[in-house]
Order: sequence, then C-alpha cells, then structure tokens
Amino acid sequence: MQSKDIREAFLAFFESKKHKRLPSSSLIPSDKSVLLTIAGMLQFKPIFLGTDKAAYNRVTTCQKCVRVNDIEEVGKTTRHHTFFEMLGNFSFGDYFKEDAILFAWEFLTIKLKIKNEKLKIAVFKDDNEAFEIWNQKLGISKSEIYRLDEENNFWSAGPTGPCGPCSEIYYDFGMDKGCRKPDCAPGCDCERFLEIWNLVFIEFNRDEAGNLNPLPKKNIDTGMGLERITRVMQNAESNFDTDLFLPLIEAVLKLSRKNNSASVRVIADHCRAAAYLIADGVTPSNEERGYVLRRLIRRAVMHGKKLGIEAPFLWNIVSLVIAQGESFYPELRIQKDFIKSVILAEEKGFQTTLATGIELIEELFNKSEGKVISGVEVFKLHDTYGFPYELTQELAQKKGLKIDKKGFEVEMQKQRERARANVRIAKGGEGIVAKNETERAAMAAHHTATHLLHAALRQILGKHVFQSGSLVDPKHLRFDFSNPKAMTKKEIEQVEDLVNQKVRDNIEVDISEKSFDEAKKMGAMALFGEKYGERVRIIEINNFSIELCGGCHVRNTQEIKSFKIIKERAIAAGVRRIEAVTGKAAEEYIKHNLLEIEESKKKEEAKEKQKAEKKEKERGAQGLLEEATKVIQEIKGINVLAYQALNVDMKGLRVLGDAIKDKLQSGIILLASSEEQKCFFLVLVTDDLVKKGFKAGDLVKIMAKVCGGGGGGRPNKAEAGGRDPSKIEEAL
Ligand code: SER
Repeated sequence: MQSKDIREAFLAFFESKKHKRLPSSSLIPSDKSVLLTIAGMLQFKPIFLGTDKAAYNRVTTCQKCVRVNDIEEVGKTTRHHTFFEMLGNFSFGDYFKEDAILFAWEFLTIKLKIKNEKLKIAVFKDDNEAFEIWNQKLGISKSEIYRLDEENNFWSAGPTGPCGPCSEIYYDFGMDKGCRKPDCAPGCDCERFLEIWNLVFIEFNRDEAGNLNPLPKKNIDTGMGLERITRVMQNAESNFDTDLFLPLIEAVLKLSRKNNSASVRVIADHCRAAAYLIADGVTPSNEERGYVLRRLIRRAVMHGKKLGIEAPFLWNIVSLVIAQGESFYPELRIQKDFIKSVILAEEKGFQTTLATGIELIEELFNKSEGKVISGVEVFKLHDTYGFPYELTQELAQKKGLKIDKKGFEVEMQKQRERARANVRIAKGGEGIVAKNETERAAMAAHHTATHLLHAALRQILGKHVFQSGSLVDPKHLRFDFSNPKAMTKKEIEQVEDLVNQKVRDNIEVDISEKSFDEAKKMGAMALFGEKYGERVRIIEINNFSIELCGGCHVRNTQEIKSFKIIKERAIAAGVRRIEAVTGKAAEEYIKHNLLEIEESKKKEEAKEKQKAEKKEKERGAQGLLEEATKVIQEIKGINVLAYQALNVDMKGLRVLGDAIKDKLQSGIILLASSEEQKCFFLVLVTDDLVKKGFKAGDLVKIMAKVCGGGGGGRPNKAEAGGRDPSKIEEAL
C-alpha cells in the first residue's frame, strides 16, 4: 500500500462511520498558545472547550503537523520527524471510549489486515474503563494491555486546555529488535515497539492552577502518524524507507560525497518541513515561526556540509517533496516557485553568514579565554549576523567554552518586547477613532482596495501570491504578499490599472454569509492562520475577488475613487510589501507629486533660460566679431582696434576679445560696453607688443578713469569698470 492509499483508506473508513471529512488546517494555527500546528486536534480546540459550536459531531482529517521538540532525535532514530501527517478521527460529544477503541481496532485489523498479535495496547494506569473495553470487547489478554503513567498516557496540547487520559496502540517489531531486554514493553525508548495510534479521551480542561475541570461534553481525539503506519504497511526498516521519503533520500545520497545516514535523514526530514511551512506562508526570520523555519533550513545545510555538499541544494531537491505531496496538498503546487526561491535565498544568505560568522566567533572565542561567553554577544551574533544560537553553542562546545544561555534568552525576550512595541506603533492607524463618517469611509475604501489589490496581484503575477500581512487605515493601506522578486515598473502599472479599472467599473460589493464549505466551493480566499467558524462572511466583488473577511467595506467600488501604489519593496526573502492610497489620500498624493514635479520643472526651466541667455549673449558677441574687425586702424605701424559693443557684459567682452585676438596676429584690442549704469572695459595686447613695452593694465586704467572707474591686470590682458556709460566713446 502506498502512503496515499493508506491516507485515503483511513479517511474513507471514517466517512463510512459517519464522519465528516475536513481538510487539514494551516501549519500556522489560529490558536495563539502554540507557534505551529502540532496535532490534528488543534483546529478543534474551541469546540472541545465549548466556546465554538461543532458543525459536525464526527470529523476525520489528515493534518499537517510540525513539532520541533524532538528535533535532536531526528535522523538518529527510525521514527522521529519535525514534519509529519496525522490521521485523526474526532468525536465532539458524540461517541466516546468504546467506539473510539472499536473503530481503531477494526481499521487496523480488518481494513489494513494487521495481525492482532503484532499490536500491543497501553492505557492510562487508572483507566479501568478503557482496560475493560480492550479486554472484554476485543478479547485482548490482560497481560497484553499495559498500564502506563501520566507522562505516557495522559495527553494535553499544552500546560492548559483540553486534555484527558489516552490509550495507545503499538506495533511490535519483534524480540530481535530494539534493546532486547526481557522486560522491554510499550513505553520503552528502544526501537522494538512503535507507537502508531494515540486515542485521547478528552474530558478535562486543565486551568492555570493545574486543576482538571470536566468539559461540558466528552470528546474523542485520535492521532495516527501516517509515516509510521506506512512503515508498518510497507514492512520498511524505518520511516525513511517508505515511499514518503525514498525519492528524497536517494536524491540526497546522489549529491553526497561522504557517508552519514543520519545526516541524509535529517536533510530529508527538514526539507519536507521547510516546504510545507513556506507553502503555508512562513518565511525565514529571526523570530518565532520564521526562526523555526530558518533553523530547519540551516540545520539541513550544515548536515549537507557533513556530507560534502557545499553548493545550495535544498532548493532543488525540495521539488521532490512537492511532487510527493501536491495532489493532497495543492498549496505545494501553487507555491512551488515561491518555496524554491525562499529556500535558495536562505541557503545563499546562510553561506555568507557562515563565512563572516566563523570569523567573528573565532575573535569572540579568543577574547573569551576559557570564560563563559556572554548572552549579549551570542544574541548579537544571532540578531545582527543571523548566526544560529545552536551553531554558536556547538562551536563553543568544541572549544570547551560555555555560553550564557539565560543571558541570551533575556536578550531574546527584550527583542520580542521591542518588536511588540513596534507593532503597536505600526498598528496605530487601526486604532484611530474615525472622525466618525469620512474617516470610516476612507478606511472602508482602503480595505476594499486591499481585496482588489490582492486579486489583481494574483491575476498579474500569478496564483502563488498570498497575503501574508495587511494594514488598513484611513490614510493608506499596506499589503504584504509572497512573491519571489521585485515587481517591475510595468507590473506595478498593470496592477494599478487593473484595480482602477475595477473602481471605474462601478461594481456592487456583495456581502453575504455562507457556510465555510460553500465559501470554499466558490473559491473564496481564506487567509493563512485565520480561524473561520462554520458560518463565514464573504466579500464578493463581481467574481474578480472573493474573500472571507469580517471587515468594513464600501458598497460600490466607485467609492474608492482612485488607487495609487506609492511603494513596493522587500520585507523578507520572498515577501514583498506594497503601500498604496485611495480616494482623497490618492488625490493628495498625486497633487503633492504634481506640485513637486511643477516645482522642479520651474527650476529646470529657469536653468534652461539662463543657459539660453548665456548662449545668446555669447552668440551675440561672436556676431560682433565681424563688425569689430572692420574698425581696425593702423597707428604708427601697430594694429589698434577700439570698439564699443552694445548690450554685452564682461563675459561677452572676453569672448569677443579672445576671438579678435585669435584673428589678429599682432595688435592692441580696446573693447568697451555697458549695461544699465555700468561700463566694462577689456584691453588685450599681443605678446610681441607686450615685449615692446605696451601694457594692457595701463591702457585699461586710462579708459576707466574717463568713465569714473578703475581696474587693472596683466600686461597682456586687463579689465576695468566704470560708472558713466556716456563717456565710453571718449574713453575709446
Ligand atoms: N492529540 C493527540 C496526539 O497528538 C492525538 O491526536 O497524539
């Protein structure tokens, strides 16, 4: 049986027992008490607690899960994973212990045809009821039913919340496997007994003080690891030797230059986890879920190094994870390019980090000289250089150095608080009390525009685009989404045009309430990590955009008036942020920009004008050249040119003077001009005449004096000014 057949057999079996088949929820849970979805029951927690009403009393799912508490075990054992699929059946106040046990037994022994004697049972030590059911109803001999303690057989999703005693079904690989101790039994850590199915009898809610309070109804939550049951059915040596892992393992082996089966398994495991996390919208970062993902990718890269794989490789082999899972989890197919590009970016980034980090660490270690390395330093490596804590710790250990873990955690906590404070500031817009109708309308316009933008991005860029964050206020909107690269100018324009087209199309915004199933059938976009009830609110904009949303919207797209993207940039690998404005804010933005454009246009024009005037004057001066050269006279064998130019300033005179001098091989040039009440004089003397004792400086002084001014200069060139233009002729 292939893993997909086992999955289907399970879901179909429980459907035949009147269970509703529901999809896996996202790995990003709506339950804030955990970072990631760790079990199939998580999406039903509010139903167990009685805060949500169940739409169906019996449900069956195959749930994507990530657990990192056993990360160190992965690869070392045959059965631990970070990512795994959990097959589950749930009863919300419907059947309880007896049916849960009978269903499980029927599925394993009749549907899957596993021999009774291969299955061993454990119950919570005080749970006589479960013990009796196994013994009396199913004829399991008393000696084959093990009573285990609270640690093994009392299940809860966390320190508080729904919980209860549980009964586990183990598969016995035989006496020749595992520790071989005569008293080896279910619950032993060795490899002989494999826990395949956990049946939890959820009947309590544990409060903060640790008290077990009875829940309003008794419930069933069961979980069977698909990887484990597949191993049993495929009679495989380990979970890694099943069809779920083999193609991936073979691909890693092909790339490896060294032998280390644990590293190969770690890579296969982490690669799966990374693919599914990214498909659900997690991107690598230094915080929370993003950090879990970063750690998984970086650990896989480090294990790659152990195998002699130096170049980025995960981004490529992740295709096999996608190929394996995409038919059941279409998000893998939709996000394929995104998954690959995020992993590649992280792999590349980590290579750089490693190179600089190792140097910094060496420096730090030398400085530390056998002492404990402070938490602040380790945090700096983590925060500033992205150097993983575990890696610093590993390297420090090798050097016999210790790390101040507490200090590091204190710094991490401080960072979290800073981040939270930032969010509060960034979210300030949401808290603005609308000055009560215009701001509300502006807010609604930005909100509806966000939906149009989301749909437009998916139409122009592709279906891999998913919202990963959004902020709406009366003045602008911010929209974060998955996209591997920067948008081109053309794409931005196309998106903007498409949204504006929808605004002009005068479309009624249709708001309705439907069941979640109906909404999904309509193709409504649900958001990652959002928890939706049985009835959902649907915002429909003419088939163009259908989203589940509880927010405040315009009644007609025309109310948005206009839409303008003002910024597009990266905020993380593979995540882009668009900032945009609508209506009055767009008008103001455009007005402001137009003013700026006009202002700079004016400046540009003034500059151009100045340039043109200058050119004109220069051209004028050149034009005067011909006229001026006509008045050359010979005085005592010396060429003398005395000329008054009209409307030429000093610069013009210089151009004219130089041009005449170029033409005149030998001579004295006396030029004058005026502008308003100012006179300008320029005298040039060619070098041969300078040698004969003529001095431009002396000549210019004489001329300037006539016009009530003064000046001077070198023997070959001198300039002067005067105040009485009427005397220029006389001076010349
Ligand atoms: N919640 C239980 C577990 O995770 C059974 O599904 O083991």
